[in-house]
Amino acid sequence: MNSEDRGLSAGLLFEPIIEGILSDGYGVTDNFLMPDEVTALANRLHERRKAGQFRAAGVGNQNVTVADTIRGDEILWIEEAAATSEEAAFLQRITDFVEYVNQTCYLGLREHEFHYALYPPGTFYKRHLDQFRSDPRRKLSVICYLNSDWQEADGGQLAIYLPDSDEATEQQIRIAPVGGRLVCFESGRLEHEVLPATRERLSVTGWLKTA
Ligand code: OGA
Ligand code: MN
Repeated sequence: MNSEDRGLSAGLLFEPIIEGILSDGYGVTDNFLMPDEVTALANRLHERRKAGQFRAAGVGNQNVTVADTIRGDEILWIEEAAATSEEAAFLQRITDFVEYVNQTCYLGLREHEFHYALYPPGTFYKRHLDQFRSDPRRKLSVICYLNSDWQEADGGQLAIYLPDSDEATEQQIRIAPVGGRLVCFESGRLEHEVLPATRERLSVTGWLKTA
């Protein structure tokens, strides 16, 4: 699909995500990125990591500490000004998505922030909420996976905990980190965790925020 066709089908691409968020609190689409875009971004990730640009991810937003008993990923924030063409194209598609969300859901999204994440084999991110108590601006969490040929046996699913309507019980759903797949959910509401994988697990992860 070329970019023009993509523009025409933006609604088709984004609508299932919105419908999922409105009815279940989370939405998934499998074609946010094409296979060649997945490969290109995964290559950029590996180049930047080899160049020493990644850091162990921290926990918290005030006293940030590295705690691999809580999360074991390495991350690099993507800066608009230093973006390669593939990264700029990704951020542009996110901008298109934000515009679509604002037209359909009135969340008043104004900013976004995205980082690459690499989970070495065996690492994980324990159950957590993405919104900081001190900063409620993160409205939607977005994760786009960069893993070609991901198999069920590789593990590494995103587990999302969905409260039942009685709020006393919950269900866990699991989403495999298949390349090109995008998951989006309400940052302040849904607890989730990253299960360990048997191979490196790559993503671009970010948040859509109010001003
Ligand atoms: C996170 C997170 C989920 C995933 O980075 O906060 O929950 O599937 N990531 O990578
Ligand atoms: Mn999270």
